[in-house]
Amino acid sequence: MIAAEHFNITKVKYSKLTDINLENLPFGKYFTDHMLEVDYEDGEWKKAEIKPYQPLVIDPSLAAIHYGQSIFEGIKAYKNASGEAFIFRPLDNFKRFNISAERMQMPQVPEAIFMAGMKLLIELDKDWIPQQEDHALYIRPFMFSSDHMIGVRPSDKYKFMIILSPTGPYYSAPMRIYVEEQYVRAVPGGVGYAKAAGNYGAAMYATAEAKKKGYDQVLWTDAFEHKYVQECGTMNVFFIIGNKAITPGLETGTILAGVTRDSVITVLKEMGLEVEEKRLSIDEIIEAYKLGQLHEVFGTGTAATISPIKELKYRDYVMEFDVDSWKTAPEVKSRLNDIRYGKVPDSHGWMEKI
Ligand code: COI
Repeated sequence: MIAAEHFNITKVKYSKLTDINLENLPFGKYFTDHMLEVDYEDGEWKKAEIKPYQPLVIDPSLAAIHYGQSIFEGIKAYKNASGEAFIFRPLDNFKRFNISAERMQMPQVPEAIFMAGMKLLIELDKDWIPQQEDHALYIRPFMFSSDHMIGVRPSDKYKFMIILSPTGPYYSAPMRIYVEEQYVRAVPGGVGYAKAAGNYGAAMYATAEAKKKGYDQVLWTDAFEHKYVQECGTMNVFFIIGNKAITPGLETGTILAGVTRDSVITVLKEMGLEVEEKRLSIDEIIEAYKLGQLHEVFGTGTAATISPIKELKYRDYVMEFDVDSWKTAPEVKSRLNDIRYGKVPDSHGWMEKI
């Protein structure tokens, strides 16, 4: 069994950090000096390495490329004003990673590799954590099948890796959203609840079509009736209706159990709002809008944090929102940021010290 002391660490001779300005960063463009790589073979994890960030050499028959056994996570690390580094709720992402692994018939990654490895890696590249508001070190753990074999079957070999990217906001402006009724992201019994790479690839066509029409993202609806809202782009979605916050429930297995989603639910309740997780129809949303009861709509995700939606288009009907007058989403965001950047005590035990 691999533990922290078994990682073979090779450090870079020169850090790339001298060439990069950690302010006003785009999302996911730069990567830190080191990466983590562990191989699974013969039923066990072996050869755990942290080494300079470098390309992988792959065989054209690599199983992951052909059949898509590939999963990932998104986590963020922050620095407080005294320069101490913390990871936001990594254990929750670790658990979700193994739920995704199970659904994709991939091996479980032990906590000793995922958590201890992640901490070791971040410790090495700690200077890369930006301190600017809305910036963080984005942590990308991922696993893919690494057999060289084009027969369709679960692979015998897998690679688990973590790379790190100092990063700014994912969506920089409020979004215009197209309610999608033709294409679907997930179906009950499918892999919608897993963070499978293919979910993101499969979403690209519909998203590109929405972009051609002038929208930033789609609001996915259910596969059978195209009536119940699901996720928004790569995010979970919240609607503030009256004095209630409503978000689609997880029971159909078509929605990713977002760690940010869960944190937002907690914070909304602390702010005194009633939170309902339920099947929410587009008709209910339109009705609330017409009655002047639909106050705010926003997406939540690790990369996106809280992203306001300024327009929702359903068929010929357009719902517009005056994002600048909103109270709830900005307060949720600032309460979460206060916890993340260590400005208030972490009463939920969400921040894991490195
Ligand atoms: C995240 O929010 O971390 C995501 O996975 C979204 C995305 C960048 C794919």
